[in-house]
Amino acid sequence: MAVTAAAEAAFAKGLEGVIGGQTAVCSIEQDKLIYRGYEIHDLAEHATFEEVSFLLLEGHKPSRDELLRFKAEIIAERPIPAAVVTFLESAAGWLASGRAVPMDVLRTAVSILGHADPDCQNNGKDANLRKAKRLLAKIPTIVGHMQNLIDGRGYVGREWGGDPTLSHAANLLYMMTGQQPTVDEARVMDVSLILYAEHEFNASTFTTRVIAGTLSDMHGAVAGGIAALKGPLHGGANEMAMEMLKEIFKDVGDAGIGTDKVDEWMEKAFASKRKLMGFGHRVYKNGDHRAGILHKLGKANAKHKSGQFGGLAATRWFDLGEQVQRIMLTKKNIHPNVDFPCGMTYFTMNIPVPQYTPIFVASRITGWTAHIMEQHADNRLIRPLSIYTGPAEHKWIG
Ligand code: COA
Repeated sequence: MAVTAAAEAAFAKGLEGVIGGQTAVCSIEQDKLIYRGYEIHDLAEHATFEEVSFLLLEGHKPSRDELLRFKAEIIAERPIPAAVVTFLESAAGWLASGRAVPMDVLRTAVSILGHADPDCQNNGKDANLRKAKRLLAKIPTIVGHMQNLIDGRGYVGREWGGDPTLSHAANLLYMMTGQQPTVDEARVMDVSLILYAEHEFNASTFTTRVIAGTLSDMHGAVAGGIAALKGPLHGGANEMAMEMLKEIFKDVGDAGIGTDKVDEWMEKAFASKRKLMGFGHRVYKNGDHRAGILHKLGKANAKHKSGQFGGLAATRWFDLGEQVQRIMLTKKNIHPNVDFPCGMTYFTMNIPVPQYTPIFVASRITGWTAHIMEQHADNRLIRPLSIYTGPAEHKWIG
């Protein structure tokens, strides 16, 4: 395709700085993150994840009655179809062998949810909203059941999708561990879900919009979103950030934290041009608003923890993380993103590392489905151009 000179001049690798569409769901600025008119610090301090989910999906702050109805609908939709349970059981071997990771299994499970959903092929406004609520309700149950299989325990709350008296966040923790979380832990999880819920035209949301833009269905778009989120440059960074901290701890030991040993480790990483996970952001250049909120909460929660987490006291992980952050800022002028404190926070809540990104999905499903609905409501196929860099035209002879 012939590309005009103006289009060629506007080319930006990775679409950096390119406006890919319009949205009323979220606004990202250097100094603010806004969900439908509400600033993220305000939401993290005063709202619950259920309220934020309603805000994103329905477009406005819920009234008391609307919230009650919404919560009841979500709780009623928590159980997952038998076909999904059967699939999870069949995937247990792949998980155990490492051939599949939880994000892969979740992606397939969401596809199966589509087959079982009576509205699957209906992209109408009401059907889309029903599907969005079902996905929001069922994804934590999939994550919980998957962890039960990995740990070799019976399904927690198979019939009910957990415990109907628990909040979304508390129920997610309960299903994954079989233990009722403390009020503090439930709140930390709730806030992390609020922070992860929506982030404008990030890679996975853009993926869901591209798929929805062909007038394909919501479950297909969400499966694509999960595949995009899995990557370590995107959502997978929360798992990789924790793996990196574990690696530093293994090399420097408890006694090395706070000493030059960590600086030396970082210098080696810089020298090898290694990307440090949980740092940097395509849009935020002065820091990610969400990182400070989660770091503060996670650290406060760690202070109440006794015992060892991967061989280190909970607060020491934050000491190490803060030292790494200081070095990154001083030497590279790069700030942590939300995935960095997420790693330490979830680790010191005893959440298995391979489930960090699936938990991200349990939250971002709200943002994705809000965007899919927005795309379907005012659609235009998303189809950019490319600059051809292949060989010149040849004749195919013989
Ligand atoms: N560790 C080390 N260096 C980093 C870095 C990181 N995490 N993030 C950015 N940089 C460096 C780059 O190497 C580059 O340096 P150079 O100009 O000397 O080549 C410079 O900062 C600009 O980075 P760039 O990769 O062009 O930024 P981007 O906008 O394309 O990438 C990310 C943004 C998120 C992909 C990138 O910061 C990254 O890979 N981070 C780690 C993964 C992560 O945490 N992802 C979650 C994002 S919420």
